[in-house]
Amino acid sequence: MKGILLAGGSGTRLRPLTNGLNKHLLPVFDKPMVFYPLATLMQAGIRDILLITHPADKPVFEALLGPGAGLGLKISYAVQEKPNGIAEAFLIGEKFIDGEPCALILGDNIFHGGDFTELVSHAAKRKSGASVFAREVHDPQRFGVVEFDGHGRARRLVEKPKDPRSNWAVTGLYLYDNQVTGIAKTLKPSARGELEITDVNKAYLEKDALNVECLDPTTAWLDTGTPEALLEAANFIQKTEQNEGRKIACLEEIAWRSGFITLDQMMAAGAGYAKTAYGEYLATLYETECAKNEKAELRVAS
Ligand code: TTP
Repeated sequence: MKGILLAGGSGTRLRPLTNGLNKHLLPVFDKPMVFYPLATLMQAGIRDILLITHPADKPVFEALLGPGAGLGLKISYAVQEKPNGIAEAFLIGEKFIDGEPCALILGDNIFHGGDFTELVSHAAKRKSGASVFAREVHDPQRFGVVEFDGHGRARRLVEKPKDPRSNWAVTGLYLYDNQVTGIAKTLKPSARGELEITDVNKAYLEKDALNVECLDPTTAWLDTGTPEALLEAANFIQKTEQNEGRKIACLEEIAWRSGFITLDQMMAAGAGYAKTAYGEYLATLYETECAKNEKAELRVAS
């Protein structure tokens, strides 16, 4: 499965922070925001990734993430001239997708914990249809919402309902089969002038091909769209990393744990982080693993 990471948009709610800076480059504690959705794609086993952003920001993302080889990835870059809607990603990315199944993640969505990684990895193995991930929220009016029938099956999708009949919001990670580009080509701009991702999902729902996975309450889904939410997200990451004793969205570690690179390649990829807590974390991880491997070798030898 291929993956698209969408990092364009307007970021109006974060102005003046975003006056001169793409929102996805803003820090969420100790990493740029874009690391988190990239980590999510990697955890789903996706290695061939297209990052879509504004023309002016493309060189900045290229400098930040490069071609991805150090992480065992293939990252390419494309531009969205204007924020014409999330579903435009499939038109911009048509050549990249090349008739294969494709995931899309919004660059401002952070997921962590619970059974999220297993749920996504499982969904990524589906051969046909679409999978979306829903989360219960207190303010469904702000989101695309999914309504269920009496058997827990998705019945209706409504974009930002004024009078919501469900509290289940559709989050910003979507997995599609190879039909998605064809569907995106049939879309017409909505009243707000955007190609809506909800319309793509509705097309799958109409074909009875939409799987809605409900995230358990222990999975964190963080919004980073407003200054308050951005600060809360940073605080969450800092506290959770401290409590769990592990870094969240440490790309080098994820690449290694996913089998994309070796332990030595992980250290090489993190070489620029010497004298930072991030670099120390990688060094400790490396030493611990080397010690484990040495012990295992001694056991085999004796
Ligand atoms: P939004 O939060 O809907 O919009 P935004 O990021 O432009 O912020 P604001 O509402 O404050 O103006 O976008 C969700 C994500 O999707 C975000 O990561 C940006 C991305 N996006 C694009 O890349 N292109 C688009 O055309 C749209 C609508 C969003």
